[in-house]
Amino acid sequence: MMQTDHLDELLICRLDLGRRVIEPGSIVIFGASGDLTARKLIPALYHLFIQKQLPDPFRIIGFARREKTDESWREEMGDALAKFSRTKNIEAAQWKAFAANLVYCQGEFGDEKAYRGLADRLASFKNEQLQRNLLFYLSTSPSQFAEVVEHLHKAGLLLKGDSGKFWQRVVVEKPFGHDLKSAQQLNAELTRYAHEKQIYRIDHYLGKETVQNILMFRFSNAIFEHLWNRECVDHVQVTVSEQLGVGSRGGYYEEAGALRDMVQNHLLQILALIAMEPPVTLEAESVRDEKVKLLKSIRPWVPMQVAGNVVRGQYVEGKVDAQVRVPYRQEVKVRPDSNVETFVAVRFLLDNWRWSGVPFYLRTGKSLPSSASEVRVQFRPTPNVLFAAQCGPKLDANAITLRLQPNEGISLRFNGKIPGTNLQIRPVRMHFSYDSEFGAYTPEAYERLLLEALAGDATLFIRRDEVETAWGIIDPIREAWADQPLTEKEFYSAGTWGPAAADELLAARSHAWRNPQPVS
Ligand code: BG6
Repeated sequence: MMQTDHLDELLICRLDLGRRVIEPGSIVIFGASGDLTARKLIPALYHLFIQKQLPDPFRIIGFARREKTDESWREEMGDALAKFSRTKNIEAAQWKAFAANLVYCQGEFGDEKAYRGLADRLASFKNEQLQRNLLFYLSTSPSQFAEVVEHLHKAGLLLKGDSGKFWQRVVVEKPFGHDLKSAQQLNAELTRYAHEKQIYRIDHYLGKETVQNILMFRFSNAIFEHLWNRECVDHVQVTVSEQLGVGSRGGYYEEAGALRDMVQNHLLQILALIAMEPPVTLEAESVRDEKVKLLKSIRPWVPMQVAGNVVRGQYVEGKVDAQVRVPYRQEVKVRPDSNVETFVAVRFLLDNWRWSGVPFYLRTGKSLPSSASEVRVQFRPTPNVLFAAQCGPKLDANAITLRLQPNEGISLRFNGKIPGTNLQIRPVRMHFSYDSEFGAYTPEAYERLLLEALAGDATLFIRRDEVETAWGIIDPIREAWADQPLTEKEFYSAGTWGPAAADELLAARSHAWRNPQPVS
């Protein structure tokens, strides 16, 4: 049921009125035959088109190795849309109007001729903005980023810096390197041909509605921010759990593992937004400055400290949602003796004024009992008098949970008297649900991110120093694990909340994980 009353509608404050107009331009997708293009990019662009958010005119050029015609690529993308679209019943007329802007360009990423072909294709558009306002989307393996960018530059399609009337931007997908050194090298290679301001590093978590809402929640409300510090907060838990196993991505996952795949990017980004100081303005650089400052305040664990602060795990056979899941080591393209982690729990301390001494516990894993992402801010208990003196640890401390997905919402947990003549107390919950407040809306991060990149707003993208700082936190953990085979106690059955050591990590500090609850 929608609960907004008329007065609330009058109070809607639009923050995007000053947003830059999106100028006509072309989007060139490298790796157009890949999964991401079919599952995410084309559906997102299609939805932007039907919401009339794409510039007029626009073109989308798919660039990939396989031989295809414009027609056959359009057809393939039409099938992908039918399968992966967040809305069903694609209207044929709308698809036809959108598909008329799709063009295919065949070529090897390392072949100069292919870029001349791309340049010719662009030149055939009879509009200067379509020819020269260019968003290059690199949905390729990171090892190809540098050569694509170099060739684009040499073909005169990507000019470094401000090219006056026109713009060119490069969007890069994760993983951005596999450690600090490779990320620095990648950054050096990319910035040889494009200015940092032209590079948009994606972390799709930043495009999620609820992740964006963290800043609004914190800085547009007076009551919560007063509590957001070491005086009031006991500890913070960030859980990003997935029911899915690695499925068909075993090859990729063997190189990544949960630490690189999720913690280095998504979890650290959530942590940065939850804990950062208010930025001076809402401009991209101010927001990103604060995030970097926060990441720099995370105390990196030296390899010797890793064992006491970081837990890894790998799933073995078990049941997820009543279905038997094979052990990770038996997944496709996974080595039978693999030591790659599919679960990580870590305790971080932030060495800054606001958070000194407050543990931030982060965990993520595959083949867990449910798929849910949430942040729980656990407040300090009341003094040990009155109710606390009588109830002891049974008197639950207050908590705010930001539920990022699914059932997006925010809950406040506090204690209330159970009605009746007995004097009994128990936790109750005040819950804000996006669905019941605003109506069902399935947010799609890529729509938002593509729109921002087209508009030239980098707020939701990762800056060079951000990605490098994040790797600096991750590398020593990897170093500690290198060549250390998993031990018996690091395995967990699929369908459970990770190895027992993850519970012990908190129990040693008198804390306990709160598992995401289904929201009614
Ligand atoms: C990706 C990871 O970045 O995020 C995947 O590579 C993971 O392993 C995915 O499954 C989770 O994203 P979401 O949006 O489903 O929470």
